[in-house]
Amino acid sequence: MLTVQDLHKSYQTGKTIYEVLKGVSLHVEKGEFVAVMGPSGSGKTTLLNCISCYIPADRGIITLGNTELANLGEDALAQVRNRQMGFVFQDFLLLDGLTVRQNILLPAIIGGSVNTLVEERANQLCDVFGISPIRDKYPAEISGGEKQRTAVARALINHPLLILADEPTGNLDSKSSRAVIHAFEQAQKSLDATIFMVTHDSFAASFCDRVIILRDGVVWQTLERAALDRTSFQNQLLDVVRDMGKE
Ligand SMILES: Nc1ncnc2c1ncn2[C@@H]1O[C@H](COP(=O)(O)OP(=O)(O)O)[C@@H](O)[C@H]1O
Ligand SMILES: [Mg+2]
Repeated sequence: MLTVQDLHKSYQTGKTIYEVLKGVSLHVEKGEFVAVMGPSGSGKTTLLNCISCYIPADRGIITLGNTELANLGEDALAQVRNRQMGFVFQDFLLLDGLTVRQNILLPAIIGGSVNTLVEERANQLCDVFGISPIRDKYPAEISGGEKQRTAVARALINHPLLILADEPTGNLDSKSSRAVIHAFEQAQKSLDATIFMVTHDSFAASFCDRVIILRDGVVWQTLERAALDRTSFQNQLLDVVRDMGKE
């Protein structure tokens, strides 16, 4: 599904070159819910922005489905971003002038593909995420958790191969965080979505199938949840984060 091979990215400020990603390699299978954790400044957002081709990598290969992203021209890339990737951001980024339902339809409107089928899909997504009763409301009239569930539904409207989420629980209280994570779980279970979530929140990460830990610019560890219950997995993640702080 998603493969990242030997990804390098540095930033230059004045004469100083600061290497953030120093050869990141990872793989995400179809239908997986994967988190990337790491200390603040470890390059999580940079990694996500390289995968979405929002910023260019210095070197490395990123493959989504059967497409190597670096080979795409501007138009083809815009199409891949619109059709094969769904985005969920920390601050929702819903449009205030559109209703919940219109916000969900936005990527389809941008892709020029609104028809009865897409409208039915929007209704179905509202049902899956429990936001049907508020679908004609505006963002100012709904809660944080409802906004984020709307954002998850919007990310799914075009049947993307991959959902990319950057700190989706970063601005939420624990109840709303739970609602967002529940939305991802439903997307995974009911819609077979593949989710790649960057987070520093071990609670959010503990719901994932696998957690990739970034450190010093590379993948330092990968933890599988496997048969562990959620609380034990969160404790394991907390131990790893604590160890990282010690060294
Ligand atoms: N556009 C930029 N120019 C220069 N430095 C940047 C830029 N974006 C991020 N950085 C630096 O790169 C490092 C990694 O940033 P980031 O990917 O945002 O980390 P994270 O999301 O893990 O907190 C940080 O030290 C940050 O200050
Ligand atoms: Mg970040």
